[in-house]
This record gives sequence, structure tokens and C-alpha cells, in this order.
Amino acid sequence: MPDTWLSDTRSSYNTDASGYTEKIRGLLGASPYLRASLALFAELVHGAGGGPVVDVGCGPGYVTGHLHDAGVDAFGIDLSPEMIAIARRDYPDLRFEVGTMTDLDLADGSVAGVLAFWSVIHVPDHAMPGVFEQFRRVLRPGGPLLVGFHVGDETRHTSEGYTGRPINVESHQRQPSKVVGWLRAAGFTIEAELVIGPDKDVPGAVIFARSSA
Ligand SMILES: C[S@@+](CC[C@H](N)C(=O)[O-])C[C@H]1O[C@@H](n2cnc3c(N)ncnc32)[C@H](O)[C@@H]1O
Repeated sequence: MPDTWLSDTRSSYNTDASGYTEKIRGLLGASPYLRASLALFAELVHGAGGGPVVDVGCGPGYVTGHLHDAGVDAFGIDLSPEMIAIARRDYPDLRFEVGTMTDLDLADGSVAGVLAFWSVIHVPDHAMPGVFEQFRRVLRPGGPLLVGFHVGDETRHTSEGYTGRPINVESHQRQPSKVVGWLRAAGFTIEAELVIGPDKDVPGAVIFARSSA
């Protein structure tokens, strides 16, 4: 069977870019746990000497903008050109590029931190080791990584976007232990895990890791 997840995910987010942007507006304001996680990540970046930080799968760029406001030299990369167009429109002073986390167009050791907020949820299991190897490759030794994802064991298929138009995208829930295993195999040391909303239908999790020096 052909592996179409990249093209399906790209076209789905292109279709739903404006709907998604409206849907997540105010999300950070409503989540002290996410804001605290980003504040801690910013502190870790500064503590490691600072420098450029990539927000991988940045979507409309509001997390990139939040990090920028926290004093982080953040820029965003996303698979969807429509998402990148919105990010550039809404944050004209920041840098956003189209690209894929499966093959990051960044030099080895060129970033001081990597953030991936609910973007690896679209990456199938077989591609996850390669994605975390990419994160490790571009990250300076000792640099921090923050990954956020849905917790669970299901893969959910979405066929309708927030504006009602047809899309075709899969979202993979994972147990933190599974993500931790992939991270360790890629050369990361785990520093902290936080499960957000464990009583919810689909909790979230953030994992703080560091590229082994
Ligand atoms: C659920 S949204 C999350 C967006 C943003 N990080 C946030 O927290 O709202 C998932 C994003 O990941 C992007 N994405 C999915 N697969 C990707 C890939 N292989 N490389 C880069 N971005 C990807 C999608 O285009 C989409 O913008």
C-alpha cells in the first residue's frame, strides 16, 4: 500500500488552515499547563545558552509567537503552505518555512531547541524513529526538546474539517512510554513528563528531553 500520509496530511491542513486557526485561538490562554510548559522550555533554552529554536509543525504560528514573546529566538516549519501563509500573515516579524519533519532542511547542530506541539500526532509509527533522529540531528548537543501529543491507544481518522470541507487525516494517540522509547533510541535523555487532563477522553502529554551531549 502506498504511504500517502504526508500528502494527505498536507492537503488536509491546506484545506482546513483557516478553520484550524479559528478553532485553536485562545487555546494557550485557557491552558495554564501548556503555558507553564512553554515557560519552562524557554528557561531551558536560555539555560543552555540560547540561540534559534525551531517550532516543528508550527501550524498557524501562535506557539512560535508565544515563545518569541518569552524571549526565545523561535521560527516555525510546517508541512502545509496554507498554514505557513497564515503564520506569516499573523506574525510578520517571525520566520516561517514550508518543510517536513521527516527531512528537516536544517544543518546538523544548528538549533538550540526543538519544539513539536501536537504535530507528531500525524506521523505513523513506522516514521517516528526517523523523525526523532531528525530532531536529534539538528539540535545542538545538550539542547532541549519539548514534544506534546495526544495520550491513548487509538488512531482517529478525520474526514471533515472545522469548516465542513472534506479532509483525510489520521491522528495517532500514544502512551508516553512509547514516545519515551523512541526518544531514548534516537539519543535523547528524558527529563520530565506531564500528563494534562488524565480524566479526559483524550488527555495530552508533554515530554521534556535533552539531546545527549
Ligand atoms: C494539530 S496541528 C498543531 C499545530 C501547532 N503546533 C499547534 O500546537 O497548534 C498539526 C500541524 O502539524 C503539521 N504537520 C503534520 N505533519 C508534518 C510534517 N511531516 N512536517 C511538518 N509539519 C507537519 C500540520 O501541517 C499541522 O499544521
